[in-house]
Amino acid sequence: MNTILEQITEIVSKGFEAAGYDGSYGKVGISNRPDLCEFQCNGAMALAKQYHKAPLMIAQDIAAKLSDDDAFSAVDAVAPGFLNIKLSDDFLSGYLNGMESGENFGIPKIPPKKIIVDYGGPNVAKPLHVGHLRAAIIGESVKRICRYLGNDVIGDVHLGDWGLQMGLIITELHERKPDLPYFDEGFTGEYPTEPPFTLAELEEIYPCASARSKEDEQYREAALTATKKLQSGNRGYRAIWKHIMDVSIPDLKRNYENLCVEFDWWKGESSVDDLIPGMVDDMKKQGFAYESEGALVVDVAMDSDTKEIPPCMILKSDGAALYTTTDLATLRDRRSCFDPDQVIYVVDKRQEMHFIQVFRCAKKTGIVRPDVSLDFLGFGTMNGKDGKPFKTREGGVMRLETLISDIREAMYAKITENHETDPEEARATSETVALAAIKYGDLSNQATKDYVFDTDKFISFEGNTGPYILYTMVRIKSILAKYGKEIPRHIAFAQNESERALMLALTGFSQVILSAYEEIAPHKICSYIYDVCNEFNRFYHETRILAEEDAARKDGWIALLQLTLRVLETCIDLLGFSAPEKM
Ligand code: ARG
Repeated sequence: MNTILEQITEIVSKGFEAAGYDGSYGKVGISNRPDLCEFQCNGAMALAKQYHKAPLMIAQDIAAKLSDDDAFSAVDAVAPGFLNIKLSDDFLSGYLNGMESGENFGIPKIPPKKIIVDYGGPNVAKPLHVGHLRAAIIGESVKRICRYLGNDVIGDVHLGDWGLQMGLIITELHERKPDLPYFDEGFTGEYPTEPPFTLAELEEIYPCASARSKEDEQYREAALTATKKLQSGNRGYRAIWKHIMDVSIPDLKRNYENLCVEFDWWKGESSVDDLIPGMVDDMKKQGFAYESEGALVVDVAMDSDTKEIPPCMILKSDGAALYTTTDLATLRDRRSCFDPDQVIYVVDKRQEMHFIQVFRCAKKTGIVRPDVSLDFLGFGTMNGKDGKPFKTREGGVMRLETLISDIREAMYAKITENHETDPEEARATSETVALAAIKYGDLSNQATKDYVFDTDKFISFEGNTGPYILYTMVRIKSILAKYGKEIPRHIAFAQNESERALMLALTGFSQVILSAYEEIAPHKICSYIYDVCNEFNRFYHETRILAEEDAARKDGWIALLQLTLRVLETCIDLLGFSAPEKM
């Protein structure tokens, strides 16, 4: 089923042709004056020159052809040459019934692609902190949107598990426990299966090592050497590395699970280590990589650049691989494992230059097919109310776990303040609503922008918030439950203005989902459901739905409510959260 705008555009274009004008100008959009009309077409204005005629006259010619069309109840030509359009009741309810019975609400089918969404990107051995929240939330939603449209999609967490942080931990551990067999070069036996640290210890070791390396040059050198030794295969260091992974990954998984974030691949920088030498060789042989001040680089600047794009560094002067190197090798790996048509990176926007270099280098050197689309969705910073990056009250980095449990507590207090509830049920509900509060609070902002994490605002049941959306859905569920009979499916034509407004709001579904997909913009879904909820609540306040005596009328409303609920459920699932039964 075509989107509503496509359907109307098709009819209006025929009207252009019937009146003797070029039909390709019949593009219809949503009215920007909803007080005057529902849809509008501005094509007549563009035709004036070509046909040497006043745009208003052209619009009048077309309106005359369209006014008897069954799809419309009014088509008016207004100065200076707009066509103002109002749908007929039959067309509007017909479209909604098409949504009601169609697969995925009749969303047009698109040619399916193979897509990898690279998101999350946590560094192993450090607890997840609020800085990881956006990558997880936005990436998860992008993945779900891509999948909903029938694409074959892989979500890859792309762990930071191969860099300096590993060397730092090894160095610190060496100082603290020099007698461990991992540090005995002559040791040939089996290493212990028990890790030499707990998660809590690991989480203390890393920041301690990191702080020391910033003050102590020698310590930093030792960590760099340890990193190099790990990467070149030192047996003991590899064993420690494995312990670090075994201790951290279950914790990461648990944290992501709390956020309803799920990855298909748990690969990381380390996964592609053995691909690096071959890749570097190829780049040299093909003449792309050359030595510059000791390092190996590939030029990626282009004539059209307006700012300087430095060469992409492939190996440091000491031969060590870099962040760019692992990202390039990862693209090679992804090609051989999955051969994607598109790779979407959901990463902090401060890494934009890195990705410009990686993308250009991958295209230039043929690591990816020329037609593969590499997209960087760089997100802005999550700030506190002071406008600075979000911190704990003491000014430290806030753990993600703490943030989540704070919001859950606040939600619990809110849910239990008004009415008696079973504490266990209230706990479960507050977890569901808290997740919606956090995710919606993030996703309702355009990803590239910084935003303020405002707990009081996010957990409010009023305004453009997750809890407001869920509250509206729960309200619909409760009406449907009270209706008590099998839910009718046929949506009748609009009886009153607020019902019509709700119906019109719903018709935008396909367009919104398609543009959220094409533009990688989940926030569009948020503003759509916010509109739908507002229109539903207006209708609800103006209409006594269950008390209605005319059965046909009531059934039409119930069918409309059911469709509204299903659409909202689908949309929040695409955003990565769900609604409780009660709240
Ligand atoms: N681990 C990286 C960081 O913490 C993010 C990884 C993003 N993904 C990627 N393919 N580079 O900055």
